[in-house]
Amino acid sequence: MTSRDVKLHRGLQGVYFDRTETTFIDGKKGILEYRGYSVHDLAKKSTFEETAYLLLYGSLPTRGQLEEFDQQLKSSRTISGQTIDAIRLVQDSHPMDVLRSVVSSLAGFDPDYGDNSIDATLRKGVRLTSQLPTIVMAHDAMRNGREIVEPSPSLSHAANFLYMLNGNTPSDDAASLMDRDFILHADHGSNASSFTARVVAGTGADLHSAITAAVAALSGPFHGGAAENVMKMAEEIGDPENAAEYVKGLLSSKRRVMGFGHRVYRAEDPRAGHLRDGVRQLSHEMGDPRWYNILEAVIEAMKPYARRGIHVNVDFFAGVIYHLIGIPNDLFVPIFAVGRVPGWTIQVVEQFRHNILIRPLLLFSGEREREYVPIDAR
Ligand code: CMC
Repeated sequence: MTSRDVKLHRGLQGVYFDRTETTFIDGKKGILEYRGYSVHDLAKKSTFEETAYLLLYGSLPTRGQLEEFDQQLKSSRTISGQTIDAIRLVQDSHPMDVLRSVVSSLAGFDPDYGDNSIDATLRKGVRLTSQLPTIVMAHDAMRNGREIVEPSPSLSHAANFLYMLNGNTPSDDAASLMDRDFILHADHGSNASSFTARVVAGTGADLHSAITAAVAALSGPFHGGAAENVMKMAEEIGDPENAAEYVKGLLSSKRRVMGFGHRVYRAEDPRAGHLRDGVRQLSHEMGDPRWYNILEAVIEAMKPYARRGIHVNVDFFAGVIYHLIGIPNDLFVPIFAVGRVPGWTIQVVEQFRHNILIRPLLLFSGEREREYVPIDAR
């Protein structure tokens, strides 16, 4: 067989490499379902706790199951002094680098360390779901010289996340927007970070290894970093009137408009509309519609690209929501990670259930059969 006979799928684009029972995506129609439930229903009617349960265990919980799950989440929120020390060791790094290092260090402290059974992996996933928010906010307090706010055992997952930012109980609107944001980020098929988690799990490594690698994959600007870059873009644009010129400048120099485009969606990302409503509502409540108007002006300027299937994605509106809530820009990617833990966990569980080593091929395109030349003769 020659290399001309090989069909290359660069970036594994369009390749199905396994089955999943968790998340259904139809990129052409813009449909997203978790365990068969429309993400629209979940975003409007569910909570992050309920959605996480659905993803991890396959069905919507009864009231009793949800209460028990909620208690498990709440009881795992506190991180140990050793974990605080681990954060301190790397506190000057970007929050995603801190998260990656600290998630890795948590492995050995987990009560199920060394146990890769499905049950143990799910228990670890529940603990990591609770621990990530605490790590992110403890680091933010530490690097700013503030007291670390202990997690509250009485607040919901999303409200507690915001509470740990400054010790103030968030408004119901802010908590519910954060909750919706976590639901919308909870899983998304074989995206780069979840695929990474599966590759690691496929070798038989544990959940902490898989999630450490997933956090690393998420940190890049083409995946999790887009929300932070959208906010930077909105700040640079400064006024809706400048948006068209700014976008033209980006596109004419072959640069990408952050928060637009998606590997699987050719229709609008079904998650984006929920956050668009959030930005509109929050901007209105705060009497500051500037950011919303800038984003709408960017969408207007990108209209010609919609014909080519380049629409807003989930991260386009997320950054401005976080900004309006008062979250620093470099915590935007960690927020994505906080929401994605149930998704990473269930994908690792699926990988374990039907494991196969993930090992694709590379088509060699370099020189061959070269003669080795001793160092003094080169
Ligand atoms: N702005 C301008 N042009 C774009 C954009 C964009 N955001 N996205 C794609 N294109 C163009 C691209 O230049 C290319 O044009 P041409 O065919 O003329 O070379 C064409 O569309 C196809 O692009 P591609 O890179 O082959 O598409 P992809 O499926 O590999 O890219 C993507 C997906 C997300 C990497 C890309 O759209 C992008 O870089 N977007 C900006 C970053 C971003 O918002 N990322 C968040 C994704 S959603 C969160 C998540 O799930 O991670």
